[in-house]
Amino acid sequence: MSLPTATPTLSITGLNAAYDGSQILRNITLEVPQRQVVTLMGRNGVGKTTTLKCIVGLVKPLSGSISLAGVPLDGRRPDERARGGIGYVPQGRDIFPNLTVWENLLLSLVVHGRKADEEVARVLELFPVLKEMLKRKGGVLSGGQQQQLAIARAMLTNPKILILDEPTEGIQPNIIDQIGDTLIKIRQEGKVSILLVEQYLDFCLGVADRFYVMDRGAIVAGGPIAGLNDTIVKKYLTV
Ligand SMILES: Nc1ncnc2c1ncn2[C@@H]1O[C@H](COP(=O)(O)OP(=O)(O)OP(=O)(O)O)[C@@H](O)[C@H]1O
Ligand SMILES: [Mg+2]
Repeated sequence: MSLPTATPTLSITGLNAAYDGSQILRNITLEVPQRQVVTLMGRNGVGKTTTLKCIVGLVKPLSGSISLAGVPLDGRRPDERARGGIGYVPQGRDIFPNLTVWENLLLSLVVHGRKADEEVARVLELFPVLKEMLKRKGGVLSGGQQQQLAIARAMLTNPKILILDEPTEGIQPNIIDQIGDTLIKIRQEGKVSILLVEQYLDFCLGVADRFYVMDRGAIVAGGPIAGLNDTIVKKYLTV
């Protein structure tokens, strides 16, 4: 007897993309199953961010299809995709440096009134460090705190999937652990799937259920995270 297959939160089939006529993505096919953390790995310049930009609607693919919880996203604008359940934290995280932490959070809210305070309180449970910094300007936070603020903002949009582009880049090791713990908590809550682009191997091993590896615009390996072996790491990941 076969088990019923649940619709993946995100599924990409045969995705091709180019910048100015030079092809960057080659036939990318990948899935993020419900309630799982999937990491997309690969060296600099292989096309990880471009893949994410296709998902969020910032780059228009040449061909291929992308579905969110079974619904095709073709032709949808980035804001429609965001409202539809895609929470995106770009590489280098963009928060508003001149607004306070509290104001940064308010701008992401999709609800208003008393419900809004409840939503912020609920999300702040995941980010204890931000609770003490609500009145500070975003720009004075450390890199790690800004990253947590960026993730909190994405969580406030009530996403079906949280998409993170290299959240550990340029961040101190002890804060990296905090970010990892947050992702594990989000996973345990079981409401949001996560697609994590990341080059820091140990971080991926600690949080991911499944992995994909990209090289020169194509997916070259993938499977349960336990299958990410030394051969793959040496061939495609270490510099
Ligand atoms: N806007 C753009 N116009 C033209 N080429 C681009 C553009 N953005 C990226 N590229 C090129 O596309 C390729 C893939 O870039 P991409 O940013 O997707 O890689 P990445 O895997 O995210 O790299 P990194 O690990 O450094 O963030 C690179 O060769 C890059 O130089
Ligand atoms: Mg990138």
